[in-house]
Amino acid sequence: MTSFEIRQKFLKFFQDRGHAVIPSAPLVPENDPTTLFTGSGMQPLIPYLLGQSHPLGKRLVNSQKCFRAEDIEEVGDNRHTTFFEMLGNWSFGDYWKEEQLSWFLEFLTDEVHIKKEGLAVSCFEGDPSLNLPPDNESAEIWKKLGIPKERIYFYGAKKNWWSRSGVPANMPAGEPGGPDSEVFFEFTLVPHDKKYGDACHPNCDCGRFMEIGNSVFMEYKKNEDGTFEKLKQRNVDFGGGLERITAAANDDPDVFRIDVFAKMKSALTEPDKNNPRKLRIILDHLRASVFLIADEVRPSNKGQGYVLRRLLRRMGFHYFDLFSHRAIDTDPRLSNAILALGITYQTAYPEMYKRIAGIPTHVTDELEKFEFSLEAGLREFKKLSAKGKISGQEAFALFSTHGFPYEMAFELAEEQGIEIDESEFELEMKKHQDLSRTASAGTFKGGLADSSEKTTRLHTAHHLLLKALQLVLGSGVKQRGSNITQERLRMDFSYEAKMTDEQKKEAERIVNEKIAEDLPVIRNEMALEDAEKLHAEHEFGAKYPARVSVYSVGPKGATPENPQFEKAFSIEFCGGPHVTHTGVIGKFRIKKEEAVGAGIRRVRGVVK
Ligand code: ALA
Repeated sequence: MTSFEIRQKFLKFFQDRGHAVIPSAPLVPENDPTTLFTGSGMQPLIPYLLGQSHPLGKRLVNSQKCFRAEDIEEVGDNRHTTFFEMLGNWSFGDYWKEEQLSWFLEFLTDEVHIKKEGLAVSCFEGDPSLNLPPDNESAEIWKKLGIPKERIYFYGAKKNWWSRSGVPANMPAGEPGGPDSEVFFEFTLVPHDKKYGDACHPNCDCGRFMEIGNSVFMEYKKNEDGTFEKLKQRNVDFGGGLERITAAANDDPDVFRIDVFAKMKSALTEPDKNNPRKLRIILDHLRASVFLIADEVRPSNKGQGYVLRRLLRRMGFHYFDLFSHRAIDTDPRLSNAILALGITYQTAYPEMYKRIAGIPTHVTDELEKFEFSLEAGLREFKKLSAKGKISGQEAFALFSTHGFPYEMAFELAEEQGIEIDESEFELEMKKHQDLSRTASAGTFKGGLADSSEKTTRLHTAHHLLLKALQLVLGSGVKQRGSNITQERLRMDFSYEAKMTDEQKKEAERIVNEKIAEDLPVIRNEMALEDAEKLHAEHEFGAKYPARVSVYSVGPKGATPENPQFEKAFSIEFCGGPHVTHTGVIGKFRIKKEEAVGAGIRRVRGVVK
């Protein structure tokens, strides 16, 4: 059975039982600054779980796109993914345990045709210290529904309590939560691994049991004084992993063998059959990245962008290794895999599909940038590993100086049997995080940003080129994308026709003229609206904060205090870095000009 069929069946099943179908919210929460990503179906619905009435009523159903960054390092086994779809149904003060448990069981057995004997369930054992009783009610319902007593397990709050922040102790005041009852599928083909304990059970980590659905009975709210109070309205929050339910329906414990990955896999071709782990990392990280980019996340050094950068780089690391292929911007495999993914989700997530054509560039741009740090990092790693042991400080420097993702240093070390002093590394990491962490987003500065001298010169040349193109082709030319590596700049801009040789020469001439004039390059910070009044150039569609940094080039004699914007050659919104005066840029040349889409041209340029 495919995940596509199961998603449809689920929505229909609950629609038939009075639920309104709602669309998936974006992966980046819209009104919730406390968290970077939507990691469960209930997150966007918190106001309704707290009592606000929903315009579509008391019963809702959906399939929500979810991303859990905390699982990045788990990916590689048969069941962990960072991105997944969560099937969800909700009752806001409407039905309760009886209906919920019997409907979910009916869905699994009658719609998805999973055998009841393959299921096991768990319930909350209670926590007397917090005055929270055991959930015997759910256990009784399961028994009545024909789940044998020995397949009903009780666990503590760590496993069978759900709130967005985890166990009751971690919940902030005001957050809703409650006991939950999980359903597991037992893959009898997977032998129990004694490494995880003598007897296997639903929460054993050996992989024989897989959690496929979780009914949260949200009946409590945490008070300021740490006690729990019954919510005015009792809610049901059900979440089921679509990929995992599909794996269970097929009695195949490897979620990477379900339908959604098939097209992507064949686009990647020649997968190394001996390394399913690397292939899974590529499939998961690429799928997650595509969905994040479609929801407007861009690789950067902070917040969501930083997580996307980590994903793409970890993916790139394994991709380069598995396919031993560099020169990523001429490698069609990744773009083909991304388009294949778009087609896979075309009907379920049309908003993602609509943006699919623009996504490969974001992925390959990041990988192109990464190639340099990867090469440098690998060289450095080789040097360090010759000693057979890498100190924590050395491992940290690989990350902070060479931009080499630290997880990869650990992965390589493990593959090659080299020891890294992990506790020393963690100490260094902690120092670094304390210095640069912003409250909400885990921001890392340095290391990943490329501010080499060559890149800086190209950055300023990029500003000169945009203005030169507007002078040569007309003021309608707008920047639509940009990418700078140590080797070259690349700019996408709106223009209908191919540039003639004369136009290219003229644009080059203007840029070189402004370089020869040795104009000052000045940075000013100002309110977004003031920058807009200056008609400072910015990329179409990009979102900017309330205060922005603006770089202007020229006129001669301009200073940050007296920028003389009206006489400047170029003014752009930009975070930098830039040279302080254009004379140091060197000679500029356009290398290539081509079409990248309807009405969009792309130029590449170099400085020597
Ligand atoms: N919100 C619940 C979960 O994420 C259903 O497991």
